[in-house]
Amino acid sequence: MADNEPKKAYRTLPSLSMQDKVCVVTGAARGLGYEFCNAFLQSGCTSLAVLDLKHDEAREVADVLAKQNALDGGAKIDAIGIACDVSSEESVQAAFAAIKERFGRLDAVVASAGIVENYSALEQANRYPADRIRKLMDVNVHGAFFTAREAAKIMIPQGSGSIVLISSMSANIVNIPQQQTPYNFSKAAVKHMASSLAIEWAKTGVRVNALSPGYMLTKLTRTILANDSQLKETWENLTPVGRMGDPEDLAGAIVYLCSDASKFMTGAELRVDGGYCAI
Ligand SMILES: NC(=O)c1ccc[n+]([C@@H]2O[C@H](COP(=O)([O-])OP(=O)(O)OC[C@H]3O[C@@H](n4cnc5c(N)ncnc54)[C@H](O)[C@@H]3O)[C@@H](O)[C@H]2O)c1
Repeated sequence: MADNEPKKAYRTLPSLSMQDKVCVVTGAARGLGYEFCNAFLQSGCTSLAVLDLKHDEAREVADVLAKQNALDGGAKIDAIGIACDVSSEESVQAAFAAIKERFGRLDAVVASAGIVENYSALEQANRYPADRIRKLMDVNVHGAFFTAREAAKIMIPQGSGSIVLISSMSANIVNIPQQQTPYNFSKAAVKHMASSLAIEWAKTGVRVNALSPGYMLTKLTRTILANDSQLKETWENLTPVGRMGDPEDLAGAIVYLCSDASKFMTGAELRVDGGYCAI
């Protein structure tokens, strides 16, 4: 398309719009979290909080996204980058206090921060190191719980809001050939956490769902693939559609779950995995 050509306005379902919604994403400095932010801005969101471990990275991503949106001819974005370690309850509380002060309300929260490690249960002197299991649970499970709880404290008094916990296909299947039992059970916990919180809060107007991706190409998976040149091909062969997912492949799913288009959906899991769990 030539630079001077006017952009086409596409019509879409109005309930899919994220206009006037305040959106928050944890683990948003890169990977899937970054793409979720992008999807919200492309769907009309103008108030965004980018949460990640390091303040400078979160702030830089917030600035880049806002500038990119302006270049793409979008509306002016109020984006804030906030340092937040989701494994620390105090850090999550401080982040949501800052969000409330800045925006006054909260409509969509995505708990995307997460880590993975591949150890066999018996590795490392006959055991997966206990401190690493605890860290993984602290980030993946307790982090999702603290995030959902602080979000709900703002959303319940409003009477509305959508919380999405990023689980994984690993909540449903056992990945092969790599061994990662603690990661798998952490993601099963996240999936059931979404259902459990959804039922606790069902009458309040606050919805909670789980989004479970298959193998997606991000820093998280690239780190694993860097140690094993055959593994990508193995994963692609195991995935019915024959490829790994691009983070953009989750854009429609996250907007659907966070927008009013899914307003009768709570306590559910949406799998976006190239058919992996269907085999
Ligand atoms: N990539 C995949 O194939 C895949 C598949 C299924 C599920 N997931 C899940 O999706 C989520 C995002 O994965 P990704 O591939 O984008 O990973 P990634 O490693 O590319 O990005 C994760 C982000 O989370 C941040 N983070 C890590 N620990 C944190 C903490 N304690 N507090 C706040 N932020 C923290 C990191 O700084 C990073 O910016 C994770 O929960 C992961 O388990 C990923």
